[in-house]
Amino acid sequence: MKYHIITYGCQMNEADSERIAARLEKNHKKSRGLEGADLIVVNMCSIRKPAVDRVYGLIEKFKKIRKTRKIKTVLTGCILKRDLLKFRREFDEILEQDNKFKNFPEYCPKDTASIPISTGCNNSCSYCVVPHTRGKLKCRDHKEIIKEIKKSVRIGVKKIWLLGQNVNDYRSPSDKSVSFPELLKLADKIDGDFKIFFTSPHPKNFSDGLIKTLADSNHFSGYLNLPVQSGDDIILKRMNRPYTVKKYKDLVRKIRKAMPDINLSTDVIIGFPGETRKQFKNTEKLFKELNFNIAYINKYSPREGTASFKLKDDVPFKEKKRREQILIKIANHG
Ligand code: 5AD
Ligand code: SF4
Repeated sequence: MKYHIITYGCQMNEADSERIAARLEKNHKKSRGLEGADLIVVNMCSIRKPAVDRVYGLIEKFKKIRKTRKIKTVLTGCILKRDLLKFRREFDEILEQDNKFKNFPEYCPKDTASIPISTGCNNSCSYCVVPHTRGKLKCRDHKEIIKEIKKSVRIGVKKIWLLGQNVNDYRSPSDKSVSFPELLKLADKIDGDFKIFFTSPHPKNFSDGLIKTLADSNHFSGYLNLPVQSGDDIILKRMNRPYTVKKYKDLVRKIRKAMPDINLSTDVIIGFPGETRKQFKNTEKLFKELNFNIAYINKYSPREGTASFKLKDDVPFKEKKRREQILIKIANHG
């Protein structure tokens, strides 16, 4: 039996795919591609509609393959409940989140180890499907995480990625005093030549204690992704992001003061329902002011089941593109 895994979406999905591959390796061989695979695993993402549409495209491909040979198809990843019923009819098997998290603790590390420290999210940003697909925040035990980091470092992994949808909302289930900074301090005590990366933190959970921990750390990579999502207070409120632009800027200032060499990136959504040109200008202004090293610019995509789905997606695609181009220019040329 040969297997092939198709992964969409974020690093969390990539990390899960690595773990699925490690388990499959026990009694399957990796196929070179879709051609020749007997078992095809699709690890899907629901964050934006185009990602879901790709799965529909694959289903058509599978139908064609089925005419020439027998295949087994498995769907896993971030799936909305309403899509689950539709996809059940098209896939032979669906792997649900909880099982995946429990059953795939092993992975095949390379230069980089991707270690989930939590899944799910207790926030409710109005545009986001994650709390609907991945559910409430579930944290892994800190002892298990530290063991996994140690093991990775021992076999020569140089980059350790700690992953969570809201990574700095971490709290160990076996010891409530182990929050995200405490976990980082424990990881920092491990000897070896390695760097720690993590994604993604929420600005509201970015405490002074976390800044100090990072600044004092020997192993922190210096790369930080801090999603702002919008540079306008009214839009932030409608996104249900509980901070103001001023608060975000103050946070960046504090981080840069403590770590002048920090490599700072951000995520932003453009064309959120009702976003006027003037409100977009505020995002443009913030980008000019903060001079991010990298920016991940996302055109708003309405997702059923989220709070903002009720709002009219009234910024035309062309205008979203125009706004995207403006931010790309600023992010690339300062
Ligand atoms: N539309 C567009 N972008 C989105 N993101 C999350 N939900 C949506 C959506 N409905 C973006 C956010 C988040 C990143 C992972 O994806 O910027 O930080
Ligand atoms: Fe989605 Fe991140 Fe907001 Fe959680 S914090 S709801 S994962 S955007």
